[in-house]
Amino acid sequence: MGYYSTPLDQEKVIRDPVLSHVYIQDQIIMDLINTTEFQRLRRIHQLGTTSQTFPGAEHTRFTHSLGVYEIVRRICNQFQRNYPSKTPGDGLWDDSERIVAECAGLLHDIGHGAYSHTFEHIFHTNHEQITQAIITNPETEVNQVLSKVGPDFPNRVASVINKTYDNQQVVQMISSQCDADRMDYLLRDSYFTGAQYGKFDLDRILQVMRPYKDGICFKMSGLHAIEYYIVSRFQMYLQVYFHPTSRSIEVILAHLLLRAKELAETTDGLEHFNPTLLMPFLEGTFNPETDLKDYLRLDDGVLNTYFSTWRDAPDKILADLADRFVNRKPFKSAIYTDKTKDLLPELSKLIEDAGFNPEYYTATDNSYNQPYDVYDPKSEHHNAQIELMQKDGSLVELSQASLLVRTITGKDVGDSRFFFPKEMLQTDDNVELFKPIYDNFQRYIKNDTIIDPKEN
Ligand code: NI
Repeated sequence: MGYYSTPLDQEKVIRDPVLSHVYIQDQIIMDLINTTEFQRLRRIHQLGTTSQTFPGAEHTRFTHSLGVYEIVRRICNQFQRNYPSKTPGDGLWDDSERIVAECAGLLHDIGHGAYSHTFEHIFHTNHEQITQAIITNPETEVNQVLSKVGPDFPNRVASVINKTYDNQQVVQMISSQCDADRMDYLLRDSYFTGAQYGKFDLDRILQVMRPYKDGICFKMSGLHAIEYYIVSRFQMYLQVYFHPTSRSIEVILAHLLLRAKELAETTDGLEHFNPTLLMPFLEGTFNPETDLKDYLRLDDGVLNTYFSTWRDAPDKILADLADRFVNRKPFKSAIYTDKTKDLLPELSKLIEDAGFNPEYYTATDNSYNQPYDVYDPKSEHHNAQIELMQKDGSLVELSQASLLVRTITGKDVGDSRFFFPKEMLQTDDNVELFKPIYDNFQRYIKNDTIIDPKEN
């Protein structure tokens, strides 16, 4: 069964640099935007530390979430115009599913926190679990707004986001290899970073999208628009998402939080540098079921304020890492391979000899992704593959129809890097004491890659 919501007397239009306009037509969408949990997304950057590399990338989870909602709304409009269901089960679009799809699009990232990726890694939180909690916990404003539509409506919205909802058309609008989420973030990240590669023809993709009984597919005539979209993703991973400088700042951030956590666990603690709002996380007492409020009070600004004050903390490592983060002093990095991996302990030893604790001043990071992968029944984490509908109604999987996509299908894109303090690359002679160590270290690095000096 479907749900209906109350339309606004007059639609609200929000300007957006990427999608031009976002149209709000239902009271429930307006009410969700005005909840404290959703407004909080204004204070969380979409790309975390990436603005340290691409200074324009100051956009937030708030604008991205509005964007995903708007793309979902446009998909529903197109489906309703061209493929309205006539009899139940005919595999076409049932417009009573619209409101659950739009709410899920709007709320799909509601559980993201400040510097999500790094924060989760250090404190073992999970933004997907928190998204579900915010939607289903009766204490949140989001839950109270959703419950007005129907008592089980919050659970339905939550099930779209965790992909267990019974209508695959709705699920795939929000999560598949060509969904409203990815389309919005690629366009938005491309626009705000200034990296032109992420652009593609959104209007054309929306025109050729169509519902069928098992989900969403694309008309064969849209092949080139889809190819272009896949290539954009490929380029954005290489140029933006895996940029070594952003990853380096992320390493500093992770080690900064780790140091704070370790200090908080010792008896002296952080003394008068105690970050009140972070304490449940530093002390490991946070429980997403009961302490949602603690999580919702954090945002980029709160964390940045703590980092700023930690620059004066008595602990040298905490103060130095905070300074590196706040004043953008990234680590340097070099690529390593299976062949040169065994050299990393030698390098760490030299870094230690130069006065840096390797636990905080070195790191490895492997960033890989596949710009497109084909359904693998053995994998638990498969994404719905992209399918094209031919004139006779039969489906072809994208890589079968496109030579371009076939060449990058299933290929890992990315690299493995070793991070270390920039000081290790100093070459001037004023650093007498450590000069032999620096010189020795530098024999291992050539063209941003780790080499074996014995073989060269
Ligand atoms: Ni998203």
